[in-house]
Amino acid sequence: MFLFPLLSILFTLTPLIHAQNNTIPLHNNQIGSYNLSLNLHQTFYFQSNQAASLLAKRSSAVFLTITTCTQPQSSTKEPVPALQLFVSSTNPLPSASNHDPISYVQQPGYLAWNTTDITRVWITVAAPASGSLQGQWSYELGFSTSALMHPLYPPNQLATLDDTDTTHALFLSTPYLTSTNFSLTPLLTTSVPAELNASYCAAVLHNVASTANVTLANRSSLQPSYAQQQIMVGNLSLGQSYAVYFAQSQPNNVRALQLPFQIQTKSDPRCRLIYQLPFCNNVAYSVLANASLDIWNVTLSYDTNANTLYEPFASAISQFNCHSTQYSLVRNCSDCERDYKRWLCSVAIPRCTDPPADSSEVATYPYPAGTARSSWIQTTYAPNGYTEFLPCIDLCYQVVQSCPPFLQFNCPTDDLAALQYGYWLPGHSPTCNRLDLDPSLLVISRASPRWIVSPLSYLAFVSAWLLCHFL
Ligand SMILES: *[C@@H]1O[C@H](CO)[C@@H](O)[C@H](O)[C@H]1NC(C)=O
Ligand SMILES: *[C@@H]1O[C@H](CO)[C@@H](O)[C@H](O)[C@H]1NC(C)=O
Ligand SMILES: *[C@@H]1O[C@H](CO)[C@@H](O)[C@H](O)[C@H]1NC(C)=O
Ligand SMILES: *[C@@H]1O[C@H](CO)[C@@H](O)[C@H](O)[C@H]1NC(C)=O
Ligand SMILES: *[C@@H]1O[C@H](CO)[C@@H](O)[C@H](O)[C@H]1NC(C)=O
Ligand SMILES: *[C@@H]1O[C@H](CO)[C@@H](O)[C@H](O)[C@H]1NC(C)=O
Ligand SMILES: *[C@@H]1O[C@H](CO)[C@@H](O)[C@H](O)[C@H]1NC(C)=O
Ligand SMILES: *[C@@H]1O[C@H](CO)[C@@H](O)[C@H](O)[C@H]1NC(C)=O
Ligand SMILES: *[C@@H]1O[C@H](CO)[C@@H](O)[C@H](O)[C@H]1NC(C)=O
Ligand SMILES: *[C@@H]1O[C@H](CO)[C@@H](O)[C@H](O)[C@H]1NC(C)=O
Ligand SMILES: *[C@@H]1O[C@H](CO)[C@@H](O)[C@H](O)[C@H]1NC(C)=O
Repeated sequence: MFLFPLLSILFTLTPLIHAQNNTIPLHNNQIGSYNLSLNLHQTFYFQSNQAASLLAKRSSAVFLTITTCTQPQSSTKEPVPALQLFVSSTNPLPSASNHDPISYVQQPGYLAWNTTDITRVWITVAAPASGSLQGQWSYELGFSTSALMHPLYPPNQLATLDDTDTTHALFLSTPYLTSTNFSLTPLLTTSVPAELNASYCAAVLHNVASTANVTLANRSSLQPSYAQQQIMVGNLSLGQSYAVYFAQSQPNNVRALQLPFQIQTKSDPRCRLIYQLPFCNNVAYSVLANASLDIWNVTLSYDTNANTLYEPFASAISQFNCHSTQYSLVRNCSDCERDYKRWLCSVAIPRCTDPPADSSEVATYPYPAGTARSSWIQTTYAPNGYTEFLPCIDLCYQVVQSCPPFLQFNCPTDDLAALQYGYWLPGHSPTCNRLDLDPSLLVISRASPRWIVSPLSYLAFVSAWLLCHFL
């Protein structure tokens, strides 16, 4: 009874589809590449469950993404207009004047549309006409019945920046389950057109990074069965800014993209990026070192020095009966050892940076020529003036809170604190060096930090402080 009308609808439909002889059929979990010249269009067609019996449920969900890879040249300063999308479930040639009203997500160079319960749909991608444009568009169209083929992630969701030096950038992935295949490709770009800012294929086309060196990170304690990758990119240019994307291949041919954040390589060639230190395993940033030295030798020299400085503390705490003496309701000796080591690594391995453009927002200290934070750095690397990116004062506060009072560990206050440490300003790029300390534990900055005080008073203080704590 009901089958007959359905069948006749189907048979009258079929010639209609093929009447448009350049209509491209869409298949599940497919990404196709297409070109489109000015003022032309391309139509695609999808019919759900074509092979199944008519008694089966025929409708399905539809996920469509369009990412623009290249665009025409414009002879004016006007932005190049975006490709247009028209959809219809009844008209085989959707157009600006004849299409279904839909709402879709639009970002520069990116369109995403999804809907549920579709039995068939025609999709037109149209190139605008404009007298000031020359050339063609190229784009990828992703189609699936289960998920977006080009999902976007906000900056920092898949990977964050550790630090840069003049030719390298080091990134840290977010923790992932070790049971999954996790693979990120960094894409460092300098010239993605603003109109294509959110496009996977445009980022791939403009990538200038060479192959990254990916290693497993051994930083702060991870949950069991989770891992983190550190991704080292080399061959970059000095003092250059890059828009950094991360691409991730996921099952079913899905191409995920983390939207870009900006990084800047350093200008001072004596700031050199080190990571994977055997003892100070949470250090992953630039340190002061002569440009010609082997970087692994530099890494070991800092790490060995920090480990040596840790020994007096280790022997002091080992003489304290941690197991029978409860000195705090919330902290024990494990916390003390962890926090003391983190603090020690931050002061024994000072972070090196370029002089900041705005020193009121970044906790830096400019060491004049012939001076350094410690005499070890002074004699080993004989710096000729450099800028330190100061540790967050919280690294010191954590030791005071975690360690037994007999250690008599104190943090400087007032002006001395502002000389030696930085404060955290939420919503800014990092304003002090926190290592792996959880940002939620950081003390928020005072209204107007005064990072810079007279270098001489600072040095006098640092020497006295080093004597107290290390000798
Ligand atoms: C179909 O394509 C042929 C050549 O490939 C062309 O001659 C014809 O006009 C097209 N028909 C339609 C309806 O577009
Ligand atoms: C798009 O155009 C470019 C340049 O003309 C060509 O190299 C490429 O093969 C074309 N791609 C497709 C899918 O037609
Ligand atoms: C599907 O579309 C709706 C409405 O536009 C949107 O809110 C939702 O996030 C989309 N889902 C996906 C997976 O993109
Ligand atoms: C990871 O990838 C390999 C090879 O591509 C595959 O054999 C394996 O099943 C994948 N594992 C998971 C958990 O996806
Ligand atoms: C590109 O996108 C990022 C993040 O989505 C944004 O911060 C940046 O301003 C955009 N750049 C341009 C040129 O549109
Ligand atoms: C760095 O760039 C040079 C020249 O462009 C190239 O020969 C070298 O292979 C690159 N190094 C890496 C690690 O990609
Ligand atoms: C990658 O980094 C590790 C650790 O720093 C190093 O041992 C290894 O030689 C590097 N691999 C390449 C290909 O550069
Ligand atoms: C990770 O670092 C800690 C602290 O330095 C060290 O004890 C541990 O052996 C390291 N683990 C690996 C796998 O390197
Ligand atoms: C690293 O240091 C060791 C000992 O200080 C030295 O023998 C070696 O030549 C150095 N390696 C490089 C590549 O400079
Ligand atoms: C300190 O406390 C943690 C749990 O809060 C525990 O796992 C650890 O073993 C304790 N360490 C010592 C030395 O008691
Ligand atoms: C680093 O460079 C300085 C100045 O050029 C020099 O005095 C010092 O000996 C060098 N240090 C090393 C370890 O090469």
